[in-house]
Amino acid sequence: MEIVKSLNELRNARQNLPAPLGLVPTMGFLHPGHLSLVRRARAECAAVAVSIFVNPTQFGPQEDLAAYPRDLEKDLALLQVAGVDLVWLPTNEVMYPAGYQTWVDVESVTQTLEGARRPGHFRGVATVVAKLFNGVQPHKAYFGQKDAQQAVVIRQMARDLNFPLEIVICPLIRETDGLAMSSRNTYLNPEQRQAATVLSRALRAAKAAYEAGDRVAENLRQVMIAEIEGESLAHLQYVSVAHPDTLEELNMLEDDALFSMAVYVGQTRLIDNFLLQAGRWQVGERINERA
Ligand code: PAF
Repeated sequence: MEIVKSLNELRNARQNLPAPLGLVPTMGFLHPGHLSLVRRARAECAAVAVSIFVNPTQFGPQEDLAAYPRDLEKDLALLQVAGVDLVWLPTNEVMYPAGYQTWVDVESVTQTLEGARRPGHFRGVATVVAKLFNGVQPHKAYFGQKDAQQAVVIRQMARDLNFPLEIVICPLIRETDGLAMSSRNTYLNPEQRQAATVLSRALRAAKAAYEAGDRVAENLRQVMIAEIEGESLAHLQYVSVAHPDTLEELNMLEDDALFSMAVYVGQTRLIDNFLLQAGRWQVGERINERA
């Protein structure tokens, strides 16, 4: 496994890798969700590259970039075992050198949900992902369904800017009790950790109401709200039942919908989603259900 930092080192290492090359972009502090992306890339590509970069431009002024969890030594050990060929660790100076002034702004799909609550977040994400694509020049890039809106934004950006690669969105990975895996889960104390299962419980309740025949989006939102309000340690930021491509809120459901939410448990902001696509549910995979 080769580890590089500068663009020159990256270009040299990139030249020696066989095609197709898969890229898994990360901000480090890797958990089984990230490793499932690496495994998928390993299964589909002749070579796998992983980037680790805690991207400052996707953090808002109220979001604590300095407190974002990091453990590079452990990350590298996990990637070595996972059979990764190349790890790119760009520095801030490589990504945003002095005088930097070019940004990627994706329009309407960034205006709702996370984008509405985290101004500038997707501008930072789209910009850094475009730079990661330009640096690594992968044939395929792997992202998780956990960040559902990010997946929509990156697909749109790749299409609009003619990036010659395939975007692969992989299932969300859950703990055994249903909590979606996230680096942020480490911020939760044991009581909060228990309360955090309310997100997946709320999504399951809405799914059950849909399966019982309710197609009125507002009713399904209310089912999720009621479940979250029943958990005293949880504070709801939003629930949404939206079209999975446009992210516009729905009135009546047909066969496609993204059920999503953001909930504070203590100071920790958690997100989760279930995707209904062509009438089939994608609710993620529990870690013990996987090989
Ligand atoms: O999902 C993430 O970890 C980040 O948003 C990404 C895609 C690596 C960009 O910094």
